[in-house]
Amino acid sequence: MKSRKPILAGNWKMNLGPAEAGLYFQQLETLLSNDPTRSLDSERVIFPPAYNLGSEIQWVAGKCQVQLGAQNIHWESTGAFTAELSAKALKDLGLNWALVGHSERRQLFGETNQTAGKRLLKGLSSGLRVLFCMGETLGERESGRMETVWAEQLTSYVEALAKHVASDQANDFSSRHAPVAYEPVWAIGTGKTATTEQAEEAHRWIRNWLSEKLGATFAEALPVLYGGSVTPDNAAALLKQPNIDGVLVGGASLKPESFAKILLA
Ligand code: 13P
Repeated sequence: MKSRKPILAGNWKMNLGPAEAGLYFQQLETLLSNDPTRSLDSERVIFPPAYNLGSEIQWVAGKCQVQLGAQNIHWESTGAFTAELSAKALKDLGLNWALVGHSERRQLFGETNQTAGKRLLKGLSSGLRVLFCMGETLGERESGRMETVWAEQLTSYVEALAKHVASDQANDFSSRHAPVAYEPVWAIGTGKTATTEQAEEAHRWIRNWLSEKLGATFAEALPVLYGGSVTPDNAAALLKQPNIDGVLVGGASLKPESFAKILLA
């Protein structure tokens, strides 16, 4: 029996505007309320585009017990950083979640381990829970560099956490404030999910590696989510794996019907 409460999350990327978002949560609420097996033994989070993070959409999402989070945050609170989002302002807006280090940010917008780590630190010190994304490309997997890449990515995570814990903003910090999302790049948006064995193996490796760096208590309580072509058909099998504590869903989170099935998986 896993003691870690699952986190079921959707990343809308640059999809669905405010009108569509409002409708989405109305439909999701209907779909969830019609299902007698519904249970709230998981946490639900959607990361929509920033224009959907205001209080009205927070309110309709809240009716489905869904929290909203930002897809990225900057490492400074304010300043001349055109198009970036302030973690502190998001917190003031009533939000509790952000995502950092997504592979699309890394591959298309020059995000590095260093910047992902800085964003993580700022999010935590601003009182947000931050989902830290990592994962290898196909080339890195096939050339046998996968574990080196994971270790490099997780080093920036560990360094950010060490700075956070040493600061005076860390009062009630626990691993649930900084879950990890393992998203192999070759499985994102490709329809090619990692097998349950591949995903479980990666998650076990991540937990063991973090246990060595941050201690077993931290690692045992840490939610590690899987992302990459998760659908209503494969979600349940992934979630049954001992080290998979949730999912981060892209394409299949865009339709209330399919996301509802995943929430009920
Ligand atoms: P897909 O589910 O569309 O593969 O996207 C996964 C993802 O990138 C979630 O962050």
